[in-house]
Amino acid sequence: MIDRRILSELKAIHNQKDSLIIKAPGRINIIGEHTDYNNGFCLPAAIDLAVFMGVSPNDSIRIHSMDRNDEWDGTNAIRPDWAVYFSGALRFARENNFSIKPFRLDFGASLPSGAGLSSSSAITCGFLFALNQMNAWNIPIEKLTRIAVKAERESGLEGGMMDQISIFNGAKDHALLIDCQNWSFEKIPMLIQNYQWTIVDTKVKHKLVDSEYNDRSRMCNQIAKKCATHFGIEENLRIVYDLYSDHLFDFLDPQERVLVRYIFEENDRVRDMKSAIINQDTTSLGKLLYDGHEGLKSKYKVTCEELDFLVQFSQNSYASIGARMMGGGFGGSTLHLVKEENFDAFSFGISAAYKQKFGFNPDVFKAQISNGIEIVV
Ligand code: GLA
Repeated sequence: MIDRRILSELKAIHNQKDSLIIKAPGRINIIGEHTDYNNGFCLPAAIDLAVFMGVSPNDSIRIHSMDRNDEWDGTNAIRPDWAVYFSGALRFARENNFSIKPFRLDFGASLPSGAGLSSSSAITCGFLFALNQMNAWNIPIEKLTRIAVKAERESGLEGGMMDQISIFNGAKDHALLIDCQNWSFEKIPMLIQNYQWTIVDTKVKHKLVDSEYNDRSRMCNQIAKKCATHFGIEENLRIVYDLYSDHLFDFLDPQERVLVRYIFEENDRVRDMKSAIINQDTTSLGKLLYDGHEGLKSKYKVTCEELDFLVQFSQNSYASIGARMMGGGFGGSTLHLVKEENFDAFSFGISAAYKQKFGFNPDVFKAQISNGIEIVV
């Protein structure tokens, strides 16, 4: 519904011969959280909720948010908060002497922002994709992905590459098993017979998210350094995982030991999840989701009361066989695997329980696994 409304508005404005309308999806992550910036494994998938952008040649740069109804001209220092997701890409082009013909861009989203579904990456990737097309830069997707990752770091989050790889390369009904060491991926069919991947958005985003995220990423770098010195290898947690994951790591302090243990266990869970999905082994699959959440809660410590409550609800519900938080943490969404025939009862039950506890409803919706960035018109 929202998609159709946004698209018809965009089509009315961007109707010239060289106009472009693109769809940049959000993503879920089946498992493999906080592993991407540690050169590990993750298993995300693009979804049907998306950011839509219409772009046409214009006499000056004008970027307009349809949802907020405000604008930015690409240069003014006084700018809306969302402009940061465009500014990194513009800076890249200017610094690398890539010419940009002036354009008008309007964007609107069916993808909620702040829900841990990568709306910010969808904007940055979508924008770079549009610039690449409109200005005939001919940059291959792999390079565009690397540029998107750097551009997005302007927002302050020192993120990995999981979101951008899945947004550019997603495939309908498939997740991507990404090896973050070399950014390669394998498509894994994701349909689980009689089950529905379900997203529950807590509607909260605790302020901690950026600072705590960067803090974890820096601690992991520190651990990689200590391991490099101890084992006489490169500073890279993946090499440590491949070679020494059975070691006790006495040379790390207790907090570092817990973090590294989480990363190694989560890498194992991604590999085990692949087998569980291929074998349609829903019991193992559900357990891996719950174990992943437990690791994020008690070892990596990036969950919050709202996320833990939703996962706990799932554990007590006959309708759901597994659940975990997704993304950076401290708010955002949980992912549940729900029996198709019980979806309505689950949605009603979890909303009512959450409202009773926190005083407002979460958003519950079905995750439809979709293609990556596409040109719609
Ligand atoms: C955020 C980042 C990703 C990834 C996840 C945690 O979504 O953007 O790169 O690190 O957190 O898995």
